[in-house]
Amino acid sequence: MPRERIVSPESQGPQEEAFSLSLRPRRLAEVIGQKGLREKLSIAIAAAKGRGEPLEHILLHGPPGLGKTTMAHVVAAEMGAGIKTTSGPALTRPADLVGILTNLGRGDILFIDEIHRLGAVVEEFLYPAMEEFRIDITVDRGSFARTINVPLQPFTLIGATTRAGFLSAPLRERFGLFHHFEFYPEADLLEIARRSAKLLEVQAEPASLSEVSRRSRGTPRVCIRLVRRVRDYAQVKGDGRMTREAAREALRMEAVDDAGLDELDRKFMRTIIDVYKGGPAGIEAVAATLNEEVDTLVDMVEPYLLKIGYVGRTRQGRIVTPAACKHLGLKAPPAARTGKQSAAGPEADLFDARDV
Ligand SMILES: Nc1ncnc2c1ncn2[C@@H]1O[C@H](COP(=O)(O)OP(=O)(O)O)[C@@H](O)[C@H]1O
Ligand SMILES: [Mg+2]
Repeated sequence: MPRERIVSPESQGPQEEAFSLSLRPRRLAEVIGQKGLREKLSIAIAAAKGRGEPLEHILLHGPPGLGKTTMAHVVAAEMGAGIKTTSGPALTRPADLVGILTNLGRGDILFIDEIHRLGAVVEEFLYPAMEEFRIDITVDRGSFARTINVPLQPFTLIGATTRAGFLSAPLRERFGLFHHFEFYPEADLLEIARRSAKLLEVQAEPASLSEVSRRSRGTPRVCIRLVRRVRDYAQVKGDGRMTREAAREALRMEAVDDAGLDELDRKFMRTIIDVYKGGPAGIEAVAATLNEEVDTLVDMVEPYLLKIGYVGRTRQGRIVTPAACKHLGLKAPPAARTGKQSAAGPEADLFDARDV
């Protein structure tokens, strides 16, 4: 049963998916922020088109809700190509890929979400497809077994992952273009909130939009969801206009605090403080105490807390920083007060997701 979190960066099901699809930028020019990526892509796209070749394979990585799927569709639209989407967990055997790959047209995009969850056998099956646009299929059994070579149309694989560290080196090496998605600055989120309100045809005071963007934890998907909640609140409790009051009240009802943190974020930090004296605490131990999945914490809770410097990663485990204690209105525990560990510094990056 997926947890219902208003600030969850994960999509909350088909209904939300359909809704956010209507707000999804379709072309590069509609994408807000991500200047570096837009530049990289527009050059690569123009060059590939100029040569009449498909685009290089692209790997997009970063926390959920930041626009990886959106970008894959934007790239397809810009290339004027078709797109077929699937995901790592859906591809359990090479046979699952045969139909997909042989049906791709020249220059089409194959989007594989959660590509870090591909099994080793499927992954190896992909190598010649990516490199030489062919697949090797084994037919018959026993002494009759032989491998036939099936040529494919040249295509572009776009892989998306929240855990680049989980990708095998040979797979990673077969991508030509890489991009790491960072959390969005507030100005970009404000723009996304404004655009969403406009597309939803709801009047919004600038102050209400800044309340929302400030609490969107750097994540467009959260930003759009909050705009939607405030709109509903304004419609039911007010005159339909999104005001600052409506924004504050709607978000208070959802227990989203000034920093955009919700109950699970606070519980995560409190557990490290109360049970583990501020840390370092192993993520498995914290997950067990909270009765949560390690993956939920690593993918959906931690990244933003690391980013704002409320949580730090050390070799020994997670720590809570004095800034977090201050936010929670607590006295800093001894470990947090030493200030020895740097939160989300370069050292934390080194560990990536691999030390989970
Ligand atoms: N750069 C952006 N500009 C405008 N809206 C965005 C941007 N990135 C994401 N969004 C919005 O956020 C939603 C979630 O993005 P999505 O691509 O599904 O994230 P991911 O695949 O990384 O989890 C999209 O439906 C889209 O409406
Ligand atoms: Mg996605």
